[in-house]
Amino acid sequence: MAEFTLPANSKVRKGKTFDATADSANKKRFVIYRYDPDSGANPRLDTYELDMDRCGPMVLDALIKIKNEVDASLTFRRSCREGICGSCAMNIDGTNTLACIKAIEDIPGEVKVYPLPHLPVVKDLVSDLANFFAQYASVEPWLKTETPASRDRERLQSKEERTKLDGLYECILCACCSTGCPSYWWNSDRYLGPATLLQAYRWIADSRDEHTGERLDNLEDPFRLYRCHTIMNCTNTCPKGLNPAKAIAEIKKLLITRAT
Ligand code: SF4
Ligand code: SF4
Ligand code: FES
Repeated sequence: MAEFTLPANSKVRKGKTFDATADSANKKRFVIYRYDPDSGANPRLDTYELDMDRCGPMVLDALIKIKNEVDASLTFRRSCREGICGSCAMNIDGTNTLACIKAIEDIPGEVKVYPLPHLPVVKDLVSDLANFFAQYASVEPWLKTETPASRDRERLQSKEERTKLDGLYECILCACCSTGCPSYWWNSDRYLGPATLLQAYRWIADSRDEHTGERLDNLEDPFRLYRCHTIMNCTNTCPKGLNPAKAIAEIKKLLITRAT
């Protein structure tokens, strides 16, 4: 029987253990993926024991505490600390989410923290999002018009037209959905993935945009759009409660409608 295994230099090894709990009766263990591609060393899992009586409630609080007080070499992205910027997206307890809004107390046992899956790792919990943002740029995510703007007022929408953007404009481009999508794992060079497709639909659905046909032409492709097989991981994992799978279905519906 064929046996599949990782190349020797990709195997994740057991790393160091840091105990910063002293005599605490309220301990929590964090097992964190560490990898520095420049070092030539294998990835490893370091373990940090923290005193929860001296730590904030969210996983990001624990990561910041580790970096400030235990191990300054731990590398991760963060900015807003309130679920707005999307920087702290990572895989926590087996799910892609935002570390700043993931409560430690909701995770039973030790807290396992990995970078977003199926992306190259820049260092530790920092994934390389260059391809993700290049794909985002490819859908030209800005208002495109032919009609000249009025000199004295904005381009107006009715209340109903504006409502069509709800569930779309809130996307913070954290990439949790795309990196949770099996189709994106295997075809991220050609499939745009749920985040970019939701963003593409955000401009297709905007009543002020005058390039809808061109936007649909740009998506009508067996790989860019049709690699979505409605597996729904994207919708299940979105930390903002959005529904990229529905947005993708709406694009497909528009393509069918205009072809008939
Ligand atoms: S749809 Fe949700 S999971 Fe996907 S990038 Fe936007 S906010 Fe993140
Ligand atoms: S519904 Fe489509 S985009 Fe979402 S996880 Fe499934 S294949 Fe990926
Ligand atoms: S730090 Fe901005 S979303 Fe978590």
